[in-house]
Amino acid sequence: MKRVVLVTGGAGGIGRAVVETMAERGYQVVACDREEEKGRALVAELARAGYELSFLPCDVSKEEEVAAVIKAIEHDYGRLEILVNNAGIIRRRTGEEISVADWDAVFAVNARGPFLFCKYVTPIMKRQRWGRIVNISSVAAKTGDITSAPGYGPAKAALDCLTKTFARELAPYGVTVNAVAPHAIETEMSAQWSEEKRRSIIAAIPLGRLGTPREVAAAVAFLASEEASFITGAILDVNGGFLMV
Ligand SMILES: NC(=O)c1ccc[n+]([C@@H]2O[C@H](COP(=O)([O-])OP(=O)(O)OC[C@H]3O[C@@H](n4cnc5c(N)ncnc54)[C@H](O)[C@@H]3O)[C@@H](O)[C@H]2O)c1
Repeated sequence: MKRVVLVTGGAGGIGRAVVETMAERGYQVVACDREEEKGRALVAELARAGYELSFLPCDVSKEEEVAAVIKAIEHDYGRLEILVNNAGIIRRRTGEEISVADWDAVFAVNARGPFLFCKYVTPIMKRQRWGRIVNISSVAAKTGDITSAPGYGPAKAALDCLTKTFARELAPYGVTVNAVAPHAIETEMSAQWSEEKRRSIIAAIPLGRLGTPREVAAAVAFLASEEASFITGAILDVNGGFLMV
């Protein structure tokens, strides 16, 4: 029986690459995103390529929408083996300029969303006595954000700590919880950089280029696999050598 994987923010960027990679590797993929049209278009496109997956609209920051997604998956499949908390947003303003509402919004998507999904999948994964949770963090959790986003790095740092906290709580049930921390990946999020910013970011990366969403997805697939069974509470850097600690 195919393992069921839920990918949040699966309609675009890194999430889309995770959806494609996991479908190609034989998983039953469920994508959710607040962008319903993009999500449905992705499902149709992958269906033409021979992959059958489903899409559920969801704003990850809203508890009732998270609960509804998990209920639908339980109803349709009766199980959920893998959760990939990928949805994320950034608001680029200085600390002085950012509104409290924007700062809260960044935390709501990047930290509360993953918390909600971890909370709602916990009883399912405990019951299965098997599960994999992979959270998409960022190098900004360790360095502070280098593009002036005072909510983003702190929210990702909270996500790293959430990862370790759930890793401890769920370890006795055969559930591993890890994070992947990318830096400078070619997506809509990074397309917001000015040309000058882009050049300076690349100059600080030993591998001398931006990363691809597929390179992040490969790390996610590894942590979600059977082979990663003795890894939990880890933050795996995918950053071209930008930060070596
Ligand atoms: N691109 C990078 O360089 C980079 C670097 C480090 C970390 N990340 C992290 O990787 C993840 C994916 O980023 P990306 O670059 O692919 O971004 P992206 O903006 O290209 O895609 C993010 C996806 O999440 C969805 N999303 C946003 N808010 C949502 C919400 N409230 N509910 C449901 N879906 C929502 C969007 O609709 C979109 O499909 C994020 O967590 C981001 O913080 C990205």
